[in-house]
Amino acid sequence: MMHFTIAIDGPAAAGKGTIARALAARLGMAHLDTGLLYRAVGALVAEGADPVAAAQGLSEGDLTRGDLRSLSAGEAASRVAAMPPVRAALVDFQRRFARREGGAVLDGRDIGTVICPDAEVKLFVTADAETRARRRWLEAGGEAAPEPFATVLHQVCARDERDMNRPDAPLRPADDALILDTTRLSIEDAVAHAMRAVSDRKPK
Ligand code: C5P
Repeated sequence: MMHFTIAIDGPAAAGKGTIARALAARLGMAHLDTGLLYRAVGALVAEGADPVAAAQGLSEGDLTRGDLRSLSAGEAASRVAAMPPVRAALVDFQRRFARREGGAVLDGRDIGTVICPDAEVKLFVTADAETRARRRWLEAGGEAAPEPFATVLHQVCARDERDMNRPDAPLRPADDALILDTTRLSIEDAVAHAMRAVSDRKPK
């Protein structure tokens, strides 16, 4: 029986998801992008659902809908994520996932602080706002993206502001998290740093 939880938190577009997926693949662990849970609830609410009912009734199918990655879905997610009963409805699912057999990597905002305070490895992945917004904008097509760079930068900053300043589970590094600033790191280097942090903690 092997339980091993890697908690990865940080602001929008810092590289959490990329690092989490790479660690999970290399270590043969399951990965949960917890932002998707809030994005799915936000999308259901945009269609008229009650936020708490949507969170309580969330299904696997809700997480695979195609429209969850957009800037507006991120915005909707961060609004419902500030509601304590929405967060409460999603706790058990995340904790069960974290303790699954074979180990798990979870990325989000409150994994190391609230969901898995006993995680074996905690990383706080960050980068300056310009860099994060530029990555988002390039992902969305750069000059061909639906929103200009300035709009993406504004939305990234507004979302961080809301996530850091909400009373329930605000975005912040756990006291024992390793801070990984990816502003000047390639993806390969960022993953290498993260792998080293895991190797230091993982039983051979
Ligand atoms: O990580 P992602 O950009 O998909 O997250 C979307 C939003 O969901 C975040 O801005 C945040 O408000 C919320 N979220 C959260 N807690 C998590 C993951 C995401 O509050 N663990």
